[in-house]
Amino acid sequence: MNYHTEYTRSIEDPEGFWLEKAELVDWVQPPQVGLANDIEGIERWYPDGTLNTCYNAIDRHVVAGRGDQVAIYYDSPVTQTKSAITYAELQARVAKFAGALASMGVTTGDRVVIYMPMVPDALVAIFACARIGAIHSVVFGGFAASELAVRLSDAAPKVIVTATCGIEVSKVIEYMPIVNEAIEMADHAPSHVIVLERPEASYTPVEGRDYSFATVLEQAEPLECVPVSATHPLYILYTSGTTGKPKGVVRDNGGHAVAMTYSMQAIYNMKPGEVFWAASDIGWVVGHSYIVYAPLLFGCSTVLYEGKPVRTPDAGAFWRVVEEYKVKVLFTAPTAFRAVRKEDPHGAFFQQYNTESLDALYLAGERLDPPTYHWLDELTDLPIVDHWWQTETGWAIASNPRGLQSFTPKAGSSTMPTPGFKVEILDPNGEPVEAGEQGSVVIKRPLPPSCLPTVWGNHTRFEESYLNPYPGYYLTGDGGFIDHEGYIFIMGRTDDVINVAGHRLSTGEMEEIVAAHPAVAECAVIGVADELKGQLPLGLVVLKDGVTEDPKTVEAALIQSVRASIGAVACFNKAVIVERLPKTRSGKILRATLRKIADGESYSMPSTIEDPTVLSEISEKL
Ligand code: COA
Ligand code: AMP
Repeated sequence: MNYHTEYTRSIEDPEGFWLEKAELVDWVQPPQVGLANDIEGIERWYPDGTLNTCYNAIDRHVVAGRGDQVAIYYDSPVTQTKSAITYAELQARVAKFAGALASMGVTTGDRVVIYMPMVPDALVAIFACARIGAIHSVVFGGFAASELAVRLSDAAPKVIVTATCGIEVSKVIEYMPIVNEAIEMADHAPSHVIVLERPEASYTPVEGRDYSFATVLEQAEPLECVPVSATHPLYILYTSGTTGKPKGVVRDNGGHAVAMTYSMQAIYNMKPGEVFWAASDIGWVVGHSYIVYAPLLFGCSTVLYEGKPVRTPDAGAFWRVVEEYKVKVLFTAPTAFRAVRKEDPHGAFFQQYNTESLDALYLAGERLDPPTYHWLDELTDLPIVDHWWQTETGWAIASNPRGLQSFTPKAGSSTMPTPGFKVEILDPNGEPVEAGEQGSVVIKRPLPPSCLPTVWGNHTRFEESYLNPYPGYYLTGDGGFIDHEGYIFIMGRTDDVINVAGHRLSTGEMEEIVAAHPAVAECAVIGVADELKGQLPLGLVVLKDGVTEDPKTVEAALIQSVRASIGAVACFNKAVIVERLPKTRSGKILRATLRKIADGESYSMPSTIEDPTVLSEISEKL
């Protein structure tokens, strides 16, 4: 198929294009209308259609006679466990777990928070919610109690589904103390907590609140799929914004199911029955879309890998999994391959395994840096696809759409806009820039199916963050350019969001935590370049007059508070005490200049700076 024909049609006739693609999924009531505005004036896909996402991901394959096909390959080097779950087995478990949730009063539209490690039961819980139209909100297992608490307060779930622990290489992370603390801190308490008991950790149940996952599953009556409107929320996934409060990205059912299914063919060039592996975590959008939903919606087998790219047990782990399950497409974050390259620079492990099932490697979560691109290209001789996307869209905004047409890649570029996404580059006045010039990356409305229609419980925030800055466009928050041949280059965020080892974090949130320390007068947290993790946060801290504490003690306390509030994943390991911060005459901290100094890049003296001497003071400290 020709990409240009497909893309042009998606832009010139979005409604016709996506109504045709709607046929990729099974509807209870097929949509007659492609697109209509809701009461907030936001474009919504398939407003008159009804369907069930769980039916499309599981039941329909069983109905089609493919119940014996493996749906999930679970591979857990951290517990030395492997299992294969067929579509029919998954259907039976999901139907019963849906019954268990219903018996606890969960019904269509209720929220269920899922705080779980990378185990098949997490997918059972996710699909059970979808089955009864409950809205799941998965919280990444690496987040600390206060992050979980913020999400509990915002989503107000009836039930939390969790486990006794997660396992980080060989470290057991007990979840129940975190869950209990989060419930204490939150404005809202769930009525029930369902706990998966893992052999590595036990817990003391709270009477009348906590129930064993295994017991409720065994005792429940199975439930059939409940049809919901295409615009009904499927899930809320919180993501970092520029402030301390994360944004609850809302995903609908219909547009999401269609976009996910379409992407498996158009972007990843998959066929039903083949094996797809996203080496990510179910707590992130990549995990939601390409561990959980898209592979099963399309009838593939998905790999659920509870391990790391290195140390579980070595840098050959990825290639071992590829060989074992005959993976066709492996999708991960560049940081994972940087970790592999660091330990196995000559690819000795790659040579050890049979990876001939692999058709391509796909990378996202951060820009695929050219050295990692070239290393993978030379080592594997496979197509290496950098594709750019966000929690907000749920799928790639730009990619090398190999199922439609393969483009010659350019290192550092995420290639072409995906059908449905009209990507443009604007200057600060909202004017388009010339090809090759950097600016703010925006998407012309309407956004295609699967993109967020609102922020949970805060539509004003949705409009202010994404729609108001450039009327008629969605603001991505990324900066970049489009070259003369139409290739898209995403160069980094233009706001206070940073990407640490493929994890999206807010420096604004870290600043709020650091500033809360009694010795701190003011601070700035910036993302500095890191060879392995892409970026790492760095705190620049001004102490209050008269503080006599040893700066090392203050630094240790600040590191500890960020770790306790956000989690170890924040990797906030360095805070430098400085005399002053560089500011404009109106008092704004010059963060972009600070970033350049920390990265050792040249910078021009900002014309608005209040006192230029502060920059050399800071350079000396870093
Ligand atoms: N639960 C609890 N703690 C977690 C966690 C989880 N799910 N994930 C990470 N952590 C902790 C780690 O144990 C570590 O703690 P420590 O400081 O006490 O050692 C800390 O958070 C930092 O972890 P991480 O950033 O993962 O560093 P690492 O050195 O352990 O591993 C990589 C580095 C590159 C191998 C790893 O970050 C990785 O695999 N990244 C890919 C991320 C990804 O898939 N992102 C999804 C987007 S596609
Ligand atoms: P998340 O919402 O966690 O997926 O993070 C989204 C952000 O990660 C984007 O806004 C980008 O800043 C960055 N990102 C993701 N994929 C890429 C990519 N392929 N190239 C450049 N940046 C990327």
